Amino acid sequence: MKREAVRNSFRDRQHALEFDLRATRSDIRARLSSLLIEALELKGRERVLDLATGTGRFAQPVCRQLKEGKVVGVDEALAMLGLAREKAQSEPLPSYLQTAGVAQALPFRDSTFDCGFVAFSLHHFGRPSVMMEEAHRVLREGGKFVVLDPVVHKVRDPVDQSLIDFINTVFRRSHGKDFQFYCSEEIRELFTRGKFQITQADLYSASFDQVGMDGIPTGRHWLEIAEGLDGKSGAMRERFKESYFQFQKRGDGFHVKGSFNYAIVCGERS
Ligand SMILES: C[S@@+](CC[C@H](N)C(=O)[O-])C[C@H]1O[C@@H](n2cnc3c(N)ncnc32)[C@H](O)[C@@H]1O
Repeated sequence: MKREAVRNSFRDRQHALEFDLRATRSDIRARLSSLLIEALELKGRERVLDLATGTGRFAQPVCRQLKEGKVVGVDEALAMLGLAREKAQSEPLPSYLQTAGVAQALPFRDSTFDCGFVAFSLHHFGRPSVMMEEAHRVLREGGKFVVLDPVVHKVRDPVDQSLIDFINTVFRRSHGKDFQFYCSEEIRELFTRGKFQITQADLYSASFDQVGMDGIPTGRHWLEIAEGLDGKSGAMRERFKESYFQFQKRGDGFHVKGSFNYAIVCGERS
């Protein structure tokens, strides 16, 4: 049975609520949040930019590392920002501020921040190089910027290219035409072209062997891709299994076994 693509909008409150609930349940996200904090190397007094902060899922643990500093979250979706504020009522985070704004034209003065990060969002930006220029502008000289994002495998041949095109096409049905996954090499290039000196470039591989996609970020879209490959070539189906995961129908659900890679790239602003 083919799943219907659902149009997701972070501007929609229901979608924001569902996103936040799924994010809470993900061990992979929890592990990545620790790695992000390590990469930022905070001393405790920094002004930190959380670009595309969403519901503040990464801002919360970063705030807890600060003694006197601030985390300033910016996001274009008011529904996501609103939910972050609601959560702050039951669990106040005095060092977390937020504002509406777009990644490609940040509403801050030059050199406002000591460091910054963008988590799970690069693949949503239509013009990531413009976002990097903006990150460069609003960070002070020597300030660190960390990109944490799920990555696809580097294209080696036409089968890889067709597979990545298909993956992006499925995600675009729900997330719009700007959606695009990058490989870790492309993320590193963004830093270099954006006049950042790369200080760390790690790949975290999260493996899974389970029934259903619970806890796997964007899991239901990946299942849609796996099912959609039925109509594609055998070479594409095999490459998908080698590169991402194998799946077998079991009862009402799927057993999935494989791994996804997440890039954590950190650069220092020149
Ligand atoms: C998958 S969510 C990630 C949120 C948060 N960083 C996290 O990991 O929990 C992607 C976020 O990017 C935001 N976003 C997408 N495009 C944006 C843009 N051009 N400018 C600002 N925010 C954007 C969305 O509104 C959404 O909140």
